[in-house]
Amino acid sequence: MWASAVLLVLLGSFGANALDNGLARTPPMGWLAWERFRCNVNCTADPKNCVSEKLFMEMADRLVEDGYKDAGYEYVNIDDCWMAKQRDANNKLYADPERFPSGIKGLADYIHSKGLKLGIYTAYGNFTCQGYPASGMHLELDAQTFAEWGVDMLKMDGCKQMDRHTMKKGYPQMTKYLNATGRPILFSCSWPDYERGAGIPINYTLVAENCNIWRNYVDIQDSWQSVLSIIDYYAKEQDTLVPVAGPGNFNDPDMLIIGDFSLSVEQAKAQMAMWAILAAPLLMSNDLRTITPEYRDILLNKDVIAISQDNAGIMGKRVLQDGPLLPQFVEAWTRPLADKKYAALFYSRSIKQPLNTNVTMKDLGLPDYKKGYMVTDVYAGKKMGFFGEKDRLLVKVNPSGVVLIKAEP
Ligand code: GLA
Repeated sequence: MWASAVLLVLLGSFGANALDNGLARTPPMGWLAWERFRCNVNCTADPKNCVSEKLFMEMADRLVEDGYKDAGYEYVNIDDCWMAKQRDANNKLYADPERFPSGIKGLADYIHSKGLKLGIYTAYGNFTCQGYPASGMHLELDAQTFAEWGVDMLKMDGCKQMDRHTMKKGYPQMTKYLNATGRPILFSCSWPDYERGAGIPINYTLVAENCNIWRNYVDIQDSWQSVLSIIDYYAKEQDTLVPVAGPGNFNDPDMLIIGDFSLSVEQAKAQMAMWAILAAPLLMSNDLRTITPEYRDILLNKDVIAISQDNAGIMGKRVLQDGPLLPQFVEAWTRPLADKKYAALFYSRSIKQPLNTNVTMKDLGLPDYKKGYMVTDVYAGKKMGFFGEKDRLLVKVNPSGVVLIKAEP
């Protein structure tokens, strides 16, 4: 009796502080300005690509008209450099009036009128990474302001907060203020990445109590090398990262750069499939006004998105690599899905020729291998047949490409 009363009190106090917005039951999907548009604030020289309300409105239009919204992409996210260079007379943040003449509230109304959601950016510490005013001393006021404007997602960065030990207090404070607004605002935290960078031990239980999604590792850049280094980090840390992911909480390996300048079509398919296996947020950072059809089709692939959005919300991991079971440079990753299904990914780091796999369901670690699985090649959109205990899966994996399969018991 006493023990359960104490437990209730403990749970109660824990519950009051934990993020309670009910969001991100599956990895959030949308568009985020940073990787493609950076801190381009020169609207005179580059009116089409500067960080302005027009840019976000045009991306919202593309999301709706080109099928992205129907595929699940719903957030339109502003990143750094949206603010005026100082706060207003009441200490409130406000958007640069020349680049955002409607203000963030006006932009939010526009985004909402399209059936989409608006994300915004701030930082813990006094300045954003690009030197604009950030939330430092004003966490509560800023949470209220964002809620008043109708913001639906908040990324809180932190590069200018030099004492990274304070983040274990600061981020949970913001969580409390976001809860107090009563508006469900998806909270994206850069906190663990900064602790990692500073060599501070990361408490992922605390992170998951306070954030819906969180960055673990360095910024993605427009290069395949960058994508590879991120994948390597998630493989290396998978025993820590997989258990903390689940409905409401996801590790964030950063934006999709599909349709930008660097990835080949094979590499773009690889990033999309790998992000689906990782149960990663699907936040595109590209120019939806000029993207070419082959990249758009990858981003809109319903079957890959279905794997990403599987409602069990389990993060996948690397299961085979460079062993006797796969050719050198080929890896296998799997992600458990709802209803005992699995997604599996073969991925090649080879820079030479396509390589062949030859593995059984047991080799992949699929638990019902004795009964067997019905296997589909997801990108090919083709059933590959039924694979019993002794059957070997033979697929050809292209250099820096993937084969993504779905296995159903
Ligand atoms: C950091 C973040 C990026 C981006 C920039 C903006 O580097 O990790 O994702 O938000 O700041 O300045």
